[in-house]
Amino acid sequence: MPFRTTVVTGATSGIGKETALALAKKDHALYLLVRNVDKGEQLKREIIAQTNNRSVFVIHCDLADLQSVQQAADELKGKLMAVNVLVNNAGGINASKQLSKDGNELTFAMNHLGHFLLTMSLMPLLQKGQARIINVSSEAHRMASPHLLNDVQFKQGYSSFKAYALAKLCNIYFAKSLAERYASSGITAYALHPGVVNTGFGSQLGGLGKVLMLLAKPFMITAREGAQTNIYLAGEAKLNPKLSGQYFKKGKPAKPTLAAQNTSARNRLWQISEQLTNNFLH
Ligand SMILES: NC(=O)c1ccc[n+]([C@@H]2O[C@H](COP(=O)([O-])OP(=O)(O)OC[C@H]3O[C@@H](n4cnc5c(N)ncnc54)[C@H](OP(=O)(O)O)[C@@H]3O)[C@@H](O)[C@H]2O)c1
Repeated sequence: MPFRTTVVTGATSGIGKETALALAKKDHALYLLVRNVDKGEQLKREIIAQTNNRSVFVIHCDLADLQSVQQAADELKGKLMAVNVLVNNAGGINASKQLSKDGNELTFAMNHLGHFLLTMSLMPLLQKGQARIINVSSEAHRMASPHLLNDVQFKQGYSSFKAYALAKLCNIYFAKSLAERYASSGITAYALHPGVVNTGFGSQLGGLGKVLMLLAKPFMITAREGAQTNIYLAGEAKLNPKLSGQYFKKGKPAKPTLAAQNTSARNRLWQISEQLTNNFLH
């Protein structure tokens, strides 16, 4: 595999951390976009100690703050000519309705909107690198329907799980739209479900959600196991370009819901995302 420049979000914990470690072992140059720089620097030391790969760089990026995302993208554009792999992995579920710094519903902001702005801001580098873009989605998308796009801010009817399900549906829509819109420049894009993985995921939940997470822990796979589809899509030397736009599980294409295959809904998401990030796209 030729030398690859790879950007990973959410690498400071769980699936993202195992993805970063494995890709460092495969000699990728890694740019870790983190909201907590101390955690990022600690991870960088761990990666260098474990892999001897010294091409590891930490950049501050809070995906729930569009200005921070734009600054991270600008920093990358100042340092790099091309990006070969972008792993949009950061995300999670929130205990209650909260707003991002920009006033967007937090789950939508941190799982989708921040990644939309990051990806679109990095597009010139991604095109030069004929990049693979990987969106970490979830089987939770099965609980979302496209009509939730009528109210991405959850002005009405918020629940933690509904907001998370919509955000993970958006990850699938976004991958499919990227695959379609940028195929001619050699870009491929994928969404994936990592499995039910024992990570920090859900640690913010209280009440019944917390109890359910604790009960499920013994049946969960490890973060290393949960990172395998990420590692496959990011690290495999050759992938059939016909698989671009697909949803993966356990390293193989899988069928998402019918709702996830709704073309007008994903075009609508694109429009909504452009509108909400318009002030930052230049
Ligand atoms: N675990 C599962 O069973 C499961 C199943 C399906 C899908 N997923 C998806 O897998 C992905 C990784 O989750 P995980 O299970 O590895 O959970 P995790 O251990 O909680 O890791 C989440 C990562 O996202 C980062 N993050 C969260 N909000 C951020 C923000 N606003 N800006 C920048 N970084 C942010 C966290 O940073 P900090 O270290 O600073 O907190 C952390 O590095 C998520 O997209 C999740 O939805 C997980």
